[in-house]
Amino acid sequence: MQVIQNKSQLREALKRARAGGKQVGFVPTMGYLHDGHAALIDRARRENDVVVVSVFVNPTQFGPNEDLAAYPRDADRDMALMRTHGVDLAFFPTVDELYPQGYTTYVSVDGPMTQTLCGRSRPGHFRGVATIVTKLFHLVAPDRAYFGQKDCQQVAVIQQMVRDLDFDVEIVACPTVREADGLAMSSRNVYLTAEQRAQAPGISRTLFAAREMVQKGERRAAVVSEYIKKSIVTIDSAAIDYVSIVDSKTLSDLELLSGEVLIAVAVKIGRTRLIDNIRFEV
Ligand code: PAF
Repeated sequence: MQVIQNKSQLREALKRARAGGKQVGFVPTMGYLHDGHAALIDRARRENDVVVVSVFVNPTQFGPNEDLAAYPRDADRDMALMRTHGVDLAFFPTVDELYPQGYTTYVSVDGPMTQTLCGRSRPGHFRGVATIVTKLFHLVAPDRAYFGQKDCQQVAVIQQMVRDLDFDVEIVACPTVREADGLAMSSRNVYLTAEQRAQAPGISRTLFAAREMVQKGERRAAVVSEYIKKSIVTIDSAAIDYVSIVDSKTLSDLELLSGEVLIAVAVKIGRTRLIDNIRFEV
């Protein structure tokens, strides 16, 4: 595995790696890799000749009172995981490399898609995501890029951006990977105390129970949403940011559940904000 910190080296390495029409799969990450990332890398490995993983804690997607400084980082551990999973190029840029002095250009996906769910409580977040993903797509020029469905809104926003800006890349959305007790894997799970960690699977349990409710015939979004809220508030130190029942493609609110439905929640357990979702056909 080649470890690269700067853009020109990355471009050089990719020029060589791509020779003879080789296909490039790309997994952008913020590091502190876990089995969810490993699943994205494994899929990229199966579907491409060359696998590139970036590790960059992107400052522009964090709000002023968010966890940029505290975000967990462990480059050695990340590199070990990447080697085990057969990554060819590991890109670890610095902030100055991607946002040099005088940087002023941002990509903003406007409209309701970025104003709902996480966009409501994290203004500017998706502008930061769209900007960094655009920059990384320009640098890596992948044939396919892999994202986890746990960040369902991020996937929808990136798909919209790729369509709107004519990026020649296939976005591959991969299923959420969960711990044995159902908690969605996230680098932020490390913030949880032992007690909070024990409570956190209550979020996914609630989502699964809500799905069952719909499968048994309930179609009224308000009823399902109320059930979820009542169930989540019973989790110790949990505060609901949002519970949203939306169309999985447009992310617009549903009153009656039909088609491909997405139920997405954001919940703070203590000071840790966790997101999770399920999607299913009704
Ligand atoms: O999902 C993430 O880890 C980040 O939002 C991403 C896509 C790497 C952009 O910084």
